Amino acid sequence: MKIAVIGKGGREHALVKALKDSPSSPEIFSFPGSDAINKLATPIPVKDMHELVAWMKDNTIDLCVAGEESYLVKDEGLANCCREAGIPCWGPVKESAQLEASKEFAKDFLLRHNIPTGMARVAANIEEARAFINNTYPTVLKFDGLAAGKGVAVCPDEPTAEEFLKEVFTDNRFGPGRLLVEEFLTGPEVSIFGALVDDHYLILCPARDYKRLQENDLGPNTGGMGAVASRQLVTPGMLELIERDIVAPTVAGLRQDGLPYRGFLYFGLMLTPNGPKVIEYNCRFGDPECQAVMPLLKGDLAQFCLKGAQGEFAPSLISFDNGWSVCCVLASAGYPASSHSGDAILGLDNVDRGFVYHAGTKWDDARQCYVTNGGRVLAVVAQGATLDEARKLAHSETDKVTFDGFQRRSDIAYASFE
Ligand code: AMP
Ligand code: GLY
Repeated sequence: MKIAVIGKGGREHALVKALKDSPSSPEIFSFPGSDAINKLATPIPVKDMHELVAWMKDNTIDLCVAGEESYLVKDEGLANCCREAGIPCWGPVKESAQLEASKEFAKDFLLRHNIPTGMARVAANIEEARAFINNTYPTVLKFDGLAAGKGVAVCPDEPTAEEFLKEVFTDNRFGPGRLLVEEFLTGPEVSIFGALVDDHYLILCPARDYKRLQENDLGPNTGGMGAVASRQLVTPGMLELIERDIVAPTVAGLRQDGLPYRGFLYFGLMLTPNGPKVIEYNCRFGDPECQAVMPLLKGDLAQFCLKGAQGEFAPSLISFDNGWSVCCVLASAGYPASSHSGDAILGLDNVDRGFVYHAGTKWDDARQCYVTNGGRVLAVVAQGATLDEARKLAHSETDKVTFDGFQRRSDIAYASFE
């Protein structure tokens, strides 16, 4: 079996490894990939998505796995192009990927199908936004389109709200688009992953990510500074509720709306005092949750995704270990406002009881070492039978890796588990 994995970050490194380790022993190709990914996969020598689809066809790729969301909604959509070319794709068509690409689309979908979520109104300009906020704080402001994780502001007061309104409507930081003014919800967050094949779904191992840069959930939002995953993260009773009120109605809603879906669907949830509510959908696996979840996966992910992409739901092909997995991210100096490239990464070979997934690194031939090449640089992941075992090991393995100016949180998998 030949599989092409699309994307270049830590999530794709984890997917590539899990697919490659599948008992069916597939051959893995990657685009755009990274130096670390290309130790496990063959790079696909193309420049853009159209060339990519033609290349996959010419090279008889059996399965295209979409890691990253951007390709799903770009141009005609990766999955749409694959469908046209007759290549099975694990990842939804563009119409369905609007669940992630447009917050307004997602909110309409949630309300239409009576799926619990925060109430929201959609503002077309700054005056409307102010009227909808109506001096009620905290308020949550969400830019409607894709904004690389930067399009959401939880505003405790008027000055922070005004600052974000200026970014959206005056500076046009994210381009043209409308703004959701959403009810502020409280409670622990959890990431639930579904593997959807048309009317069928399998709920995978739950996870939690740590979005803020600094300990105790302080500092700016980031792409994720770490994650913890375990089947024990959510009680069976809560999981049943999530399945009944959120996952099953979402799958039924997609069906009713004529939105085909084959691929991972990420439910970002908040467990509020009034029950679990949807904060967002993502049409792909989470990053860095994927790096924590994949090491717990057993079975044949490659076969599962291939069959799923072909329309055959085969849940018995995969399962999850009952233990815990913890992932600690090292970010480069300046992140998230900026990032620092070219810093030599030391100690990678000393990580022997965990695994390193690369996100923003590059191999430096002259120095014969990996160097930083982005904001989030890498994630060190380790497992244990208990939460305590897993987090101690993950942190002590992470201690072995350093580079100039690295940033890291020492409370990953400790915070929110007191
Ligand atoms: P999102 O990009 O939609 O996942 O939002 C980023 C983060 O903002 C979430 O992980 C939450 O921590 C926070 N957030 C989003 N929506 C809400 C809400 N309605 N109430 C409180 N916090 C929220
Ligand atoms: N971990 C959050 C995300 O992947 O969007």
